[in-house]
Amino acid sequence: MLKYTLYIILLIAVIAGLTGLWHLYRVSVRNEKEMAEFAGPAEKLNVNLGKTLVVYYSLFGHTKDIAESIKTKLKADVYVIQTKEKLNTTPWFYMTLRSQLKKGIYPEINTDFPDFSKYDTIFVGAPVWWYTMATPMYSFLKQVDFGGKTVVPFSTQGSNFGTFYDDFAQNAQNAQIAEGQAFNNLPAKYNLNVENKIVRWLNRLGQK
Ligand SMILES: Cc1cc2nc3c(=O)[nH]c(=O)nc-3n(C[C@H](O)[C@H](O)[C@H](O)COP(=O)(O)O)c2cc1C
Repeated sequence: MLKYTLYIILLIAVIAGLTGLWHLYRVSVRNEKEMAEFAGPAEKLNVNLGKTLVVYYSLFGHTKDIAESIKTKLKADVYVIQTKEKLNTTPWFYMTLRSQLKKGIYPEINTDFPDFSKYDTIFVGAPVWWYTMATPMYSFLKQVDFGGKTVVPFSTQGSNFGTFYDDFAQNAQNAQIAEGQAFNNLPAKYNLNVENKIVRWLNRLGQK
């Protein structure tokens, strides 16, 4: 009996592993296809979006990288959303965050917000957590009023941003929302492609 139980557990583990590998393969094929559109040479930025602010939350640095690139290209100011307590990345924190998102439990964040009225364009970025915005982005949006400013959302994610942009639009108070952009986590070989993707997006924003 024990032998059969072990066989079943082993079979389930093998199926789960193969499903995971198949998912990773499909994501990498999709990424390659998308990035082919943004192959070199480096594209030029030819817009001015006025006085610009980049607001972001990042736990592991991917969103920070995109935010820093936007900042450099547009010579923007930056505001980093920070949780009052450092997020505890225990092995089960994925599940904790899932449950918090379901229950609408959002962390306390610092509230030394900049004066948004000084800016023409405000970029706001966060990671995707469980197909929506990371909880600190909910905390942020619940406490700010964009006062009719142009707000440009952006996200980073493994492969699926789910309802991030709809949820952003529903929570960004008094924002004129412009075209957002989603960035999958990618290997370094695509760095130039990602830069081109950012430049093309910024150029489009400037033409509207
Ligand atoms: C709790 C949690 C949930 C996540 N859920 C998703 C998801 O639903 N879809 C996805 O594509 N990636 C998901 N990811 C991956 C992150 O969105 C991705 O790694 C992101 O770039 C991390 O941003 P950061 O490095 O700025 O923290 C999740 C990551 C965490 C920690």
